[in-house]
Amino acid sequence: MNVLVVGSGGREHALAWAIRRSPGVDELHVAPGNAGTASIARNVDIGADDVEALTAFARGHAIDLTVVGPEAPLNAGLVDRMRAEGLVCYGPTAAAARLEGSKAFAKEFMQRHGIPTAAFAVFDDVSGARAFARTLEPPLVIKADGLAAGKGVIIAASHAEADDAIDAMLVEKRFGDSGGRVVVEEFLRGEEVSVHAVCTADRALILPSSQDHKRAFDNDEGPNTGGMGAIAPVPWLTAADLEHVRERVIMPVLHGMRAEGAPFTGTLYAGLMWTPGGPKVLEFNTRFGDPETEALMPLLAGDVAAMFMGAATGRLPDAVPIRAGAAATVVVASGGYPGAYPTGRPIEGLVAESEDGEMVFHAGTRLAPDGRVVTAGGRVLAVTGWGADLRGALERAYRLVARVGFDGAFSRSDIGRRHIDGSRTQNRKG
Ligand code: AMP
Ligand code: GLY
Repeated sequence: MNVLVVGSGGREHALAWAIRRSPGVDELHVAPGNAGTASIARNVDIGADDVEALTAFARGHAIDLTVVGPEAPLNAGLVDRMRAEGLVCYGPTAAAARLEGSKAFAKEFMQRHGIPTAAFAVFDDVSGARAFARTLEPPLVIKADGLAAGKGVIIAASHAEADDAIDAMLVEKRFGDSGGRVVVEEFLRGEEVSVHAVCTADRALILPSSQDHKRAFDNDEGPNTGGMGAIAPVPWLTAADLEHVRERVIMPVLHGMRAEGAPFTGTLYAGLMWTPGGPKVLEFNTRFGDPETEALMPLLAGDVAAMFMGAATGRLPDAVPIRAGAAATVVVASGGYPGAYPTGRPIEGLVAESEDGEMVFHAGTRLAPDGRVVTAGGRVLAVTGWGADLRGALERAYRLVARVGFDGAFSRSDIGRRHIDGSRTQNRKG
């Protein structure tokens, strides 16, 4: 099997790494990839958003399976385009990717299909949005409708702040086109959990639960980022809890999307708030999370390429073998991230090839002309450890973090700690 992975981050390095281990894979390409993917696959110099060039490459190189990492090409119709050419591409069509691409669509879809989520309403006018916001007890949440790279969500501490957020989106258009409509919603309390499901139109394989760490600094301080670390699985979440998510969230999505004429195939990532009343959906993503994927892939013991191939062709396997134990990912970022940061800094201490139990997935790296690996992004490395339990996984990850580095590197020192030292205060079982 010849496989193409689309994207260039830590998620794509982890996907490529897992696919490389699959027995049936002969050739592996990553477009555009990074210095990490270059060591296990052939990088192809095509941008992840270039639908036409990716399709032409897949056709020209007899690619049997394309696996899409980021959301932008999904929303741009890469899967539709490839399917129209008779190519197999794992991921949702543009119509199905609206579950992530439009928060208004996702919320109204959940309402239509009885999927638990925060109370809300959708507006394109300021007065309506403000009036509805007055009916909610602060804090409340204002969200820009479209893809806003994780920045379109404002938690307003007061009605005045909510008014400002509504104005920023609807009047000042601070989020561009994605702010043409706003979702005003109830603030939920609890613990955030990510659940990923590999889906074909009517069936789903639920992967282990995971948890992102979105804030830049320790103790969940500082600005939101793309994600500074992840653990998998979430220690307190039981098999029965996951089954509950399957029945109340994942299967109703698949059923609803089929009923609405946009069957969903690909990765459905439910961002959940585990409230005292059970899980409620904060958002859907229609792709793998980053850095959750870097912690999830080492837990998959089976043939990952066959799993994606099966999902994309309607022959999803009945189960995916899960490795016992836990994984933890610590992101090493460039000083300044998520704001401006320098690039081109040489990276020291990289381990050449992933050993069992310790992996350095590259997130923002490239090979300099002199052959050195240098920084090329805000999130640079996704250092991952596997262990018999979360404590062991974290020890390995942090041991590796201490060995790699570059000028200005920083990482959080408290990934997963709430589960180890008892500082976790909010969840239904706590
Ligand atoms: P979203 O992009 O919708 O996941 O929102 C980004 C982040 O904002 C989430 O990961 C939560 O931390 C927070 N958030 C979003 N919606 C809510 C809500 N209704 N209640 C509390 N926090 C929320
Ligand atoms: N880790 C959050 C995301 O991928 O959206």
